[in-house]
Amino acid sequence: MAELHVSEHPLVRHKLSLLRQSSTEPKKFRDLVRELAIVLAVEATADLALQDEPVTTPLAEMTGAKVAERVGLVPILRAGLGMVEGVWDLIPGAEVWHIGLYRDERTLRPVEYYNKLPVQPTVDVCLVLDPMLATGGSAVATIDILKRWGARRVKFVGIIAAPEGVQRLREAHPDVPIHVAAVDDHLNEHGYIVPGLGDAGDRQFGTA
Ligand code: URA
Repeated sequence: MAELHVSEHPLVRHKLSLLRQSSTEPKKFRDLVRELAIVLAVEATADLALQDEPVTTPLAEMTGAKVAERVGLVPILRAGLGMVEGVWDLIPGAEVWHIGLYRDERTLRPVEYYNKLPVQPTVDVCLVLDPMLATGGSAVATIDILKRWGARRVKFVGIIAAPEGVQRLREAHPDVPIHVAAVDDHLNEHGYIVPGLGDAGDRQFGTA
C-alpha cells in the first residue's frame, strides 16, 4: 500500500489555514501555494540518494554531498503550475515536464492533449504536483503516462487530498508515496473537496 504522508509541520498547518480562508486573495493564495509546495517537497525528497562531493572551505578540504538523482517536476495542469516555481527554486536542476489532460464529458475519463516527454526517461525521480487530490483520476492517468515512459520512482505531492482520491491513487499505484498537507472529510457531488479550499485553479489565477 502506498505510503501516505500528512505533514505535521506547524508552518504547513498555519499556511494551510490561510489558504483555505475564502477571503485570501489570489496573490496571497499563490504565495501560500508556493510556500507550502516548498515545505512539502522538502519532506517528499528526504530520501534522495547522495554522492560524495569534494568541498574546499576557506579553512580546509572536506567531503561534502551532492544529490545523485535527477528530479523531474510534473505539474498537473492547471492548478499544479503554482507549485512548480517554489519546488524549482529548491531543486534548480530539476526538469519540468508538462502533461495536459482533460476529462471527456461523455466517458468521464482523462484524455491526453499535451505530452512532449522524450522517448527515453531523463530523470530518476518524478514529483507529480497538484494541489488537490480529489477523485484521483488525473493523478492516476498522469502516473500511468510516466510509468509507460519508464519512470522508475514517482511521488505525488499535493496540498489537500480527499479520502476518495487517496484510495484511488493507492489502488492504482501502490508504489507511489503521497505527500499532502491534509486529508479532508469527503468529496461533494460536484467533485469538490470538503471543507477544502474551493477551486485551486480559479483561486490562483483569479478566474473564480
Ligand atoms: N479541484 C479543486 O480545485 N478543488 C477541489 O475541491 C477539487 C478539485
